[in-house]
Amino acid sequence: MPEFPYPLLPPYRIKVVEPIPFLTAEQRREAYAAAGHNPFNLRADQITVDLLSDSGTGATSADQEAAAARGDESYAGARYWFRFRDEVQDLTGYPHILPVHQGRAAERIVFSALLRPGQLCVSNTHFDTTHANVELAGAHTLDLPCAEARDLDSDHPFKGNIDLYALERTLTGPDADRVGLVLMTITNNGLGAQPVSMANLEAVAALCRRHGVPFLLDAARFAENAWLVREREAGYAHLTPREIATRAFQLADGCLVSLKKDGLAPVGGFIGLRSADLFATCEANLIATEGFSTYGGLAGHDLERIAQGLREVIDEHYLRSRAASTARLADLIHDAGVDTVRPAGVHALYLNAGRFLPHLTPDLFPGHSLASELYLTGGIRCAELGSLYLGGMDEEHRLVQPAPFELVRLAIPRRVYTDAHLDYVAAILAEIAKDPERVRGYRIVSAPPLLRHFKVRLEPVE
Ligand SMILES: Cc1ncc(COP(=O)(O)O)c(C=O)c1O
Repeated sequence: MPEFPYPLLPPYRIKVVEPIPFLTAEQRREAYAAAGHNPFNLRADQITVDLLSDSGTGATSADQEAAAARGDESYAGARYWFRFRDEVQDLTGYPHILPVHQGRAAERIVFSALLRPGQLCVSNTHFDTTHANVELAGAHTLDLPCAEARDLDSDHPFKGNIDLYALERTLTGPDADRVGLVLMTITNNGLGAQPVSMANLEAVAALCRRHGVPFLLDAARFAENAWLVREREAGYAHLTPREIATRAFQLADGCLVSLKKDGLAPVGGFIGLRSADLFATCEANLIATEGFSTYGGLAGHDLERIAQGLREVIDEHYLRSRAASTARLADLIHDAGVDTVRPAGVHALYLNAGRFLPHLTPDLFPGHSLASELYLTGGIRCAELGSLYLGGMDEEHRLVQPAPFELVRLAIPRRVYTDAHLDYVAAILAEIAKDPERVRGYRIVSAPPLLRHFKVRLEPVE
């Protein structure tokens, strides 16, 4: 018998539960129209299964809540700070740690210290707030995903990798002097939840060293990346996920981490740095804008929850069961007749809406149409990653540059939904797949200039 015959088995049982609403089809139609046909505008009590985000949506454990109760709320030098700092230093190996209230605060503080106007931040793929914060610092982003990432059906194990040849060309080409930072997102949330291999990170580290460019990790999902390295990359099966994660952190000069994902906490983040000078600049900014450097905009109980969460998230029984549950959902969705980006990652599945709804051209936003249909048919909330989010628009909000793919992200909160909830999601997709042609397209009614998808309002096209 194999050592773990039931990979799906989670290492916890449920102690506190929360009711979920069941609306009628008519109530869902009304709620969605009132929300401007944008899932971000729905109220949580109008949703049956919420797969909008895996960020800050996880369930905490009894040990986390017990730790939170011990939280010491002193303004400076509180006990919780030392526990949090020691935990993070032990995990990452970085000497300098700053707490922040969430990942984007880390982005703002580090980019304003590191990037000058006109410079380039090069990445495998920038997350949307990361891109926005680079731009707010006056710099520009350059995404260089590996070629395999463009093939949604490829089972290449590390489609989150950066294209090393393109990175080297950038570091030696006419724009070399403009490169202010290389930032690797692990796992690659913008491109199908795909992991980055240790070999790729090592090569990036070597290139950055050779060319004197700082190298940071955007490590919101460091534990899930470590798990997939252990499962997929030769030479890592004998290491624990924690050992692999520490090795990844050690390859870089520092990191930005949203702890709302692999911190298993509703809020939080940190900056980890090797450089004392960069730390001093960031610390001054943190104190002025987030809070003193021993709490960074968080409460003592938050930091206690996170310190405990960082231990639980790296547990291999937890990671194995979470990965198995996502992979099982991917299989069910394929059986229902809908393709997902392959191979399945851990924190999310990405539906190939462009292929599923060929009657909808990109200007009718097939990804958004499928996300809308999931809500209208089953009360499931999720968001598109396609032309609505990434496409180029003119001033009248007409699509002029479609996104490369029309996807829908099903993000899976940590320790929240059972496999029965996920079976329900697959069943609703099977229902929609009976007659995909009845799914309608959408047009934009109004949209903000930055981070359009959060506040856009749309209407269905008859
Ligand atoms: C890869 C990545 N980086 C940064 C962030 C921003 O983190 P936060 O939402 O905590 O500001 C996110 C959030 O989803 C993310 O997925």
